[in-house]
Amino acid sequence: MKIHREKLLQDAKDILYFNWKDGFTVPSERLYPFQWNWDSGFVSLGFINFNVDYAMQELRSLFSGQWKNGMVPHIIFHGGQDTGYFPNPSFWGTDKIENAPNPPKTSGITQPPVHGFVLEALYTRHQENKKVHDFVEELFPKIVSLHTFFYEHRNPLKDGLVYIYHPWESGRDNSPLWDDILKQIHIDKDKLRPYKRVDNTLADPSERPTTFDYDRYIYLLELGRKHEYAGPKIAEESPFLVQDVLINTVLIKSNESLINLGKEFGYDTHEIKDWNDLSTQSFNDKLWNEALGTYTSYDLRNDKQIALKEVAGLAPLFANIPDKKRANILLSHLTSITSKKEDYLLYPSFDIDHELFDPKKYWRGPVWPQMNWLLYKGLQNYGFSNWAERVKSDILELVFRLGFYEYFDPRRKVIEQLERGYGGSKFSWTAAVVIDLLSEHKT
Ligand code: GLC
Repeated sequence: MKIHREKLLQDAKDILYFNWKDGFTVPSERLYPFQWNWDSGFVSLGFINFNVDYAMQELRSLFSGQWKNGMVPHIIFHGGQDTGYFPNPSFWGTDKIENAPNPPKTSGITQPPVHGFVLEALYTRHQENKKVHDFVEELFPKIVSLHTFFYEHRNPLKDGLVYIYHPWESGRDNSPLWDDILKQIHIDKDKLRPYKRVDNTLADPSERPTTFDYDRYIYLLELGRKHEYAGPKIAEESPFLVQDVLINTVLIKSNESLINLGKEFGYDTHEIKDWNDLSTQSFNDKLWNEALGTYTSYDLRNDKQIALKEVAGLAPLFANIPDKKRANILLSHLTSITSKKEDYLLYPSFDIDHELFDPKKYWRGPVWPQMNWLLYKGLQNYGFSNWAERVKSDILELVFRLGFYEYFDPRRKVIEQLERGYGGSKFSWTAAVVIDLLSEHKT
């Protein structure tokens, strides 16, 4: 299909400007009306290509919500009033917590730490810009403090693989990866704080998580709140305790970026190097699943790998974690899906051969552009250039055909019949990734 690149680029920029709210960007106006953590990283990556001031401001706004212990929350509620969104600031109750800033109000959990590699991209592309130089000096220590949070508060085994205790921290909220753990949580509905969700009134409820899952999300939120969203008690008590493959991949990549920036700026990065060596070693020892030929997340509570195939299992290519042999095995997952009877465009969020695969449902099968951007960069790292190019052109084709949606059906034949993607529309990170791919640069 012939893609009109200029139009696509212009539409993408217009969407970022549309979603820009005086200092930060919302992921999608109706569905996600505040600032989201890792979305902002991608947004900044998009702005790097055409508005460097906004690229910096986006991250600055995000880090205005950083907690005293270094955590960067997954949502920053600039403005602060409770709106129709759920869970709202009062429900999180973070204004009563010592560690939290106020203002802005924030959630109490975190998301993948993409900021290190975004900062490096910003610097690499705008080295001559004095403002960018100063900004790196401003943000570098804040990102180090975020990584310190992960290694100090989320690393109980001291093996360098940090844990999450809520599916929302993984960025892949409703993945089947979490099903078994969530099923083990028994809830006394009478004791659960009453709540009223709104996500299923804003988007097609058949694409959203079930009530069963949502009750457990609230249960885990409450568990965090009880312990002021920090401290060893969470690791002791939480039934959901996972060394997530994506969080750790992104952390390793961002560590690497901090080390690179540290060299340029003359900062001491010994501690970051030590963390990173340990994390990478443990990652390869503990998260690789030989039978499946992929990396997996690790369920610390039940002491076993979550042995399922999913898109984040390939993400370690992005951080140069696998050796060549493992990289080839990961590549074979991508090549195999194109030879299936139903041809797949891009890499779906979940294993297409698994009975739980659902091509329409949130994180249970559809394609996410930003995940495939990570894969694209990872394929480039290993010299799989043809495959990288294919992923790139498939992302562009998909968005050109169906619009800047949150996620998409992965089946090529179905896509040809559809007129739009799924989930939120005018979606910021979809636009940002498109801008990045369309812009000519090599880093
Ligand atoms: C959903 C996604 C999460 C993202 C958020 C805003 O919750 O699962 O990864 O950050 O939407 O786009």
